[in-house]
Amino acid sequence: MRIDILCLFPDMFISPFEQSIIKRAKESNLLNIVIHDIRDYTHDSHHTVDDYPYGGGPGMVLKPEPIFELAETIQHGVDTGDMPVVLLTPQGKLLTQKIVRDLALQPHLMLICGHYEGIDERVHEHLATDEISIGDYVLSGGELAAMVMVDAITRLIPGVLGSEESAKDDSHSNGLLEYPQYTRPETYRSWSVPSILLSGNHEKIAQWRKRQSILRTATRRPEMLQQVILSCEEKSWISERSLNQN
Ligand SMILES: C[S@@+](CC[C@H](N)C(=O)[O-])C[C@H]1O[C@@H](n2cnc3c(N)ncnc32)[C@H](O)[C@@H]1O
Repeated sequence: MRIDILCLFPDMFISPFEQSIIKRAKESNLLNIVIHDIRDYTHDSHHTVDDYPYGGGPGMVLKPEPIFELAETIQHGVDTGDMPVVLLTPQGKLLTQKIVRDLALQPHLMLICGHYEGIDERVHEHLATDEISIGDYVLSGGELAAMVMVDAITRLIPGVLGSEESAKDDSHSNGLLEYPQYTRPETYRSWSVPSILLSGNHEKIAQWRKRQSILRTATRRPEMLQQVILSCEEKSWISERSLNQN
């Protein structure tokens, strides 16, 4: 997969993209990330990327010309097909694991990072195919949001995660939160690992994990449970627990 990132602060990506899973994905040629500086596509001596908002008001707005020119240079000569051009904005659709899964299937993505008061509306209207927010809060720039997206997408590119770090049981992968995890020591400060996990009975362990996932989701994110299909046995197990808690 190739991801082109258009931004004002390319150096912000250096360390995060040289560590852990993203580094490994790049080294095994499963991921190619190209960072572009929007400033390189300005044509005045000051390399101006922003200007005052029409109508007045605080802050500066990113100008459309360098962003269109850069995006069109990337698209030129490439079979862009249905290539998503994602604008990072707090006004976009909230990023979910479902969106991440869909984007991870794309061969080529473009991510556009805003800054200051945001980006000229014509970029929203005539260049972006998708607008995505990483949460209901406002960051200073889209760079951190792009890093979050790249990290979440990279985990799902086939071949990136080894079987020992598979994403299949991760929270949000199947509509549930993940079950609790434990490692050695078996007892720490008198707190013991649930005995079922030491039993070696894989069937019972799988059942315990599924039930814990359901319980956690019911307790922490009850609205998520509305979307999950549970077996009759799971439904009656969880309703008994809910009754006991009330
Ligand atoms: C200070 S914000 C601009 C916010 C804009 N004035 C508004 O109210 O919608 C600057 C840039 O940070 C990025 N950004 C801020 N919050 C974000 C979020 N929650 N998700 C994705 N990108 C975000 C966007 O690229 C945005 O253009």
